[in-house]
Amino acid sequence: MSSLSQKRIILGITGGIAAYKSAEIARRLQDEGAEVRVIMTDSAQEFIRPLTLQALTGKPVHTDLLDPKAEAAMGHIELARWADIVLIAPATANFIAVLSQGVANDLLTTVCLASSGSIVVAPAMNQAMWSQPVSLDNIERLKQRNITIFEPDDGIQACGDTGPGRLQQPEAIVDQLCGIFDSGILSGKRVVITAGPTREAIDPVRYISNHSSGKMGFALASGMIDAGAAVTLISGPVSLDSPDRCQLIPVVSASEMLEAATEAVKEADIFISSAAVADYQVTEASSQKIKKKSDKMSLNLSKTPDIVAILSENNPKMFVLGFAAETENIESHARDKLNRKNLDAIIANDVSRDDIGFNSDNNEALWIDANSCQSLSKKSKTQLAREIIVLIAEKIDN
Ligand code: C5P
Repeated sequence: MSSLSQKRIILGITGGIAAYKSAEIARRLQDEGAEVRVIMTDSAQEFIRPLTLQALTGKPVHTDLLDPKAEAAMGHIELARWADIVLIAPATANFIAVLSQGVANDLLTTVCLASSGSIVVAPAMNQAMWSQPVSLDNIERLKQRNITIFEPDDGIQACGDTGPGRLQQPEAIVDQLCGIFDSGILSGKRVVITAGPTREAIDPVRYISNHSSGKMGFALASGMIDAGAAVTLISGPVSLDSPDRCQLIPVVSASEMLEAATEAVKEADIFISSAAVADYQVTEASSQKIKKKSDKMSLNLSKTPDIVAILSENNPKMFVLGFAAETENIESHARDKLNRKNLDAIIANDVSRDDIGFNSDNNEALWIDANSCQSLSKKSKTQLAREIIVLIAEKIDN
């Protein structure tokens, strides 16, 4: 399976003759399993019609920064947060100059400025324009801002010149994009991740549970796979597709999760406890459906096993990352859990907000470890997962 599978890619098209190749790029990205949304500049639309890209992607093409209808559906900030990567292919000399200055004067430049994900620029221009010191300076400036450049090919150009400046072939662009996700920073590591809610049975038809969607844990699993790790994902009941190339163990209750995790971590280097494990279980679940009789009823509850605390104590060499869902005093409550559960680090997030956390596609969090607390700004859970994985890799290296 491709590392572009389930990735969200914005394909930005600017106005050069190579824009015709962008249709093929859009198609190939989708063949690899990526979700693609297209942004076209005004001049790109002189070379290729938005309808072509709309037909290929099945999604409306985004063209205007100040279009109230488009903003209501998916505005520029939403688009920037949605994307795992913004790929600009072809990128003209003018677009590169504007981007290098940090100007945000149309939808594509604004999305680039608002994006906290990766940006990739595939230049295409006449060889003389490419070789100008000012163009090379602009490219250098983009590289310094961690923008990846897919260097242009050398060869015969549309204008009849020969030299560097041709847009790379669509298949080469898509291959290199796969390499960006395949960071390999945790190559050879074995990682166990718990995700989603647990369900604690009351009787055969009822249960206690919570609103966890599992999205953060699944995003961490995908990110870990891209980082080269062997991943076991132990998930409570969720409605998400399993990431490719990972071993998924479905469980229902906290006790089942503990049993599966205890077995899975035997060989693990890293344990990530992102599951929203129920704190209490019904002490004695009824084997028959409980009948509605009296006006009031009460349930006798007892604490579930604290999976992350147990596994951390029993596996002192394993790197353990916990999660803390808080509604107030976020840092101090999370730090308390870090110490009490003997964790190497904890991700704390505010679950009182509607725009992040439970069920949302976005999240914003604090990374807290013994020596530091750093805030991870609001972004898609996929992007946040990649940021967390880089932090884990750095910690393990140290
Ligand atoms: O104490 P609290 O539930 O807030 O702690 C959150 C962290 O502990 C999360 O990493 C969660 O996955 C883990 N946890 C657990 N077993 C429990 C309760 C929480 O592993 N029974």
